[in-house]
Amino acid sequence: MRNIVLIGFMGTGKSSVGKRLAQSLAWDFVDTDWVIGEVTNLSVTEIFRRHGETRFRSEEKIVVARLSQKEQMVIATGGGTVVDPLNLQALARNGIIVGLYATVDTILSRVGQKNERPLLKGTKEAIEELWSQRQECYAQADFTVDTSEKNIDEVVSEILARLERMTDDEFTRVSTH
Ligand code: S3P
Repeated sequence: MRNIVLIGFMGTGKSSVGKRLAQSLAWDFVDTDWVIGEVTNLSVTEIFRRHGETRFRSEEKIVVARLSQKEQMVIATGGGTVVDPLNLQALARNGIIVGLYATVDTILSRVGQKNERPLLKGTKEAIEELWSQRQECYAQADFTVDTSEKNIDEVVSEILARLERMTDDEFTRVSTH
């Protein structure tokens, strides 16, 4: 059984939606940032601060390769995970890729005040700039849901409805039961 992989910019709701989605399917949930934290025993912020982004990306790549071997899991990625095409390839080989989108204003209101994302510079312009650099990577998703005006349950329902409409019979059977 394939995985469901959530991709998208920081603050689009990948972790909270992923958790709830996994609950409704009775699947396991995993977040690549948490696994990196467990493996390294450091928070994402600490890895960036002590070792830099290159080290974070190499830990991320190892975690992605491992999780891509799993089945029937909801996987929330970090906002930069699929910037590396090899990560996306690995995840897509064994998973349906669901994109989450949110407007810049929504992203700012969700994460603007928190200081746990080393790459999030809290201005509208900086977010727009990084988003436009990554836009093509996020566009590789099988389908994308705009989370801006929705609560977690509404996003989960929309994802489930979209999955049911997909032609993958095996997956459809699981998601509807
Ligand atoms: C990053 C997003 C973060 C985390 C790291 C880098 C990015 O994950 O992986 O801070 O490059 O966009 P979230 O998208 O869960 O915040």
